[in-house]
Amino acid sequence: MAAAVLWACASESASTEATTSTSAATTGAGGGTVDGAELSAPDYFAAKVFPEFSLTCGACHTSEENCVPKFMENEPSPTYELMRQHPGLIVPPDSSNLRLYGAHSGPNLTATQDETVRIWLSKEFPDDTGENSQRLALRALGDCMSETDYEDSAFNALAHQQTADAGPCGACHKTGEAGTWIGFNAADMYDKTKKLPYIQRLFRAKFDGSTFVGFGPSTRLFDKPEFAAQCGERHPQGLIDPQKRVATETYIQDALDAYASGNCQ
Ligand code: HEC
Ligand code: HEC
Repeated sequence: MAAAVLWACASESASTEATTSTSAATTGAGGGTVDGAELSAPDYFAAKVFPEFSLTCGACHTSEENCVPKFMENEPSPTYELMRQHPGLIVPPDSSNLRLYGAHSGPNLTATQDETVRIWLSKEFPDDTGENSQRLALRALGDCMSETDYEDSAFNALAHQQTADAGPCGACHKTGEAGTWIGFNAADMYDKTKKLPYIQRLFRAKFDGSTFVGFGPSTRLFDKPEFAAQCGERHPQGLIDPQKRVATETYIQDALDAYASGNCQ
């Protein structure tokens, strides 16, 4: 079945948090300069980023079908315009969801693609110091997800949530498949959901223009199975049981509250 095929490629990339090897690509082995260094940001996007995205992301993101957010066209300049309008994409490199979102229905960026996107966004925001980046903030937020709150909330029960005809969430997401870690092993699920890319299923980054300004709760874990029928039936359907929903919401809110208080180790 189609899902199984998708599955295999999604899980392969799910475990690799987009790591950057800055030195290799910017200076090259022999210390040469980066390919495309002379290009302006939009020209670099058109020449280097767009062709990659067109191949790996364009099949889905050029259309709104199956509940995909549309931020691409078949040409670089209308794509650039759409990406500008979509919050959290053309923002400083360590805040961009293009780099942080990770494996989902679509694949994670390869290390080379990630580096290309990083270079492009550094050209867009040459004065960015890297402070207040979403990446750093996600780390701080992860530290605010306490094990006591995790156990008290019973968030782990979501692993046992049944779908209409395809078994529980944990049967398919037990090792982070599609960037979504919902496993039967409670300790693993606690550790993994504190970190990229899995933490991105629990929280939604907020932006003011190109500035990352904080987090709110994400409803992705409920929306995915609940809206499955409207989204092309690629995913098993299921209504999340109210208790498990409250457990998930409580754990997410506890972390946001702790983060807001600035009191996490
Ligand atoms: C098989 C289809 C598919 C492919 C291929 C795909 N995506 Fe996606 N993408 C989706 C769907 C569906 C969503 C909406 C669900 C979600 O938010 O996870 C999404 C959401 C996103 C989001 C979150 C947008 C937001 O504002 O919430 C980002 C960022 C993203 N994709 C980036 C990419 C990148 C970069 C690529 C290429 C490397 C890619 N996607 C390839 C289907 C795909
Ligand atoms: C039979 C296997 C299977 C079961 C059971 C299952 N999923 Fe999925 N899930 C998938 C596959 C395959 C993908 C990637 C393809 C896609 O996004 O359609 C996915 C992707 C996701 C995503 C990330 C992609 C996105 O669009 O945001 C979320 C979130 C998710 N599932 C939540 C759940 C929840 C919650 C449950 C339990 C109610 C569940 N899944 C049960 C197979 C499954």
